[in-house]
Amino acid sequence: MKLNIALLAGDGIGPEVIEQAVKVSNAIAKKFNHEINWTPALTGAAAIDAVGEPYPDETHEICKNADAVLFGAIGHPKYDNDPSAKVRPEQGLLKMRKKLGLFANVRPTFTFPSLIDNSPLKRERIEGTDLVFLRELTGGIYFGEKGRRQGGDIAFDNCVYSRAEVTRLAKKGFELAMTRSKKLCCVDKANVLETSRLWRETVQAMEKDYPEVEVSYEFVDAVAMRLVQWPNSYDVLITENLFGDILTDEASVISGSMGLMPSASMGAKVSLFEPIHGSYPQATGKNIANPLATVLSAAMMFETAFGLQEEGQAIRDVVNKSLAQGVVTEDLAGNEKAYKTTEVGDWLAQNIA
Ligand code: IPM
Ligand code: MN
Repeated sequence: MKLNIALLAGDGIGPEVIEQAVKVSNAIAKKFNHEINWTPALTGAAAIDAVGEPYPDETHEICKNADAVLFGAIGHPKYDNDPSAKVRPEQGLLKMRKKLGLFANVRPTFTFPSLIDNSPLKRERIEGTDLVFLRELTGGIYFGEKGRRQGGDIAFDNCVYSRAEVTRLAKKGFELAMTRSKKLCCVDKANVLETSRLWRETVQAMEKDYPEVEVSYEFVDAVAMRLVQWPNSYDVLITENLFGDILTDEASVISGSMGLMPSASMGAKVSLFEPIHGSYPQATGKNIANPLATVLSAAMMFETAFGLQEEGQAIRDVVNKSLAQGVVTEDLAGNEKAYKTTEVGDWLAQNIA
């Protein structure tokens, strides 16, 4: 099969972790007889430096015409500490999500048996956790009208959702639940927010189309608590943009390391795959970043964008093997030997071959 993939390395550790995912993907392509055509493109602070724009039109053209996008990370501290910056790298990410129509962000949370004790949470609470967040990604408070009034002394960010936006996200949630344990949790704040009441009403109306799916409705504050108390009680969770942003960071604690969690952002046509961690500026250029979240994002890409299940599984298998054998970066190494980012990538690629 011919795979056309846009490659957006981005900022910080992005290029380093992307390089390892490329090695691993190329090894998979060789083993399973595929031909990958990688097209690199600029994004984030790197793009601002080069062309003054965090998501240039040329990058959009490349992404739009690709079968899938593999993405590293975006963000640079020089913008975080400057609230007056006119362009910021994150705007590129939001623009990309909107322009590519990536409305459903799939963020799985699972545990690796060999890493259970890396989590700050108690083993007996998290063992066996296997849940998926479906975060709405192109609406809500991120994209509503925002601004200042009264000479800048009042600021506002509007949260807006349409029934159509909720329906298309919830549909993905019901469909995903059907392939898993048929349990769906709608996370909202319907006791306070009008948009949440629209969410709840819309999902309730869809229940009859999926009679086998057991749906629960829970307030986001309660979910934030139960998620770390009883993560095993959840399977598929659907939620709006900001709630999903916050809860998925929280959920990554269950797995013991943010460096492990992959994600997919699905659009009508093209989908994008990226680690959930950020650009980790402190580690940039040190060859210490954990590449596994990006490598596992490539596994999701093979499966979701191309329907290549065996290829995706082969990546997961080799990642599990590296974890079991302690071929890991310093965040996971404890008192054992820590491998460099590139060494982990090389090891994975060799073990696939
Ligand atoms: C994420 C990130 C982004 C978000 C930022 C970088 C804009 O935190 O992908 O979760 O808030 O969506
Ligand atoms: Mn986030």
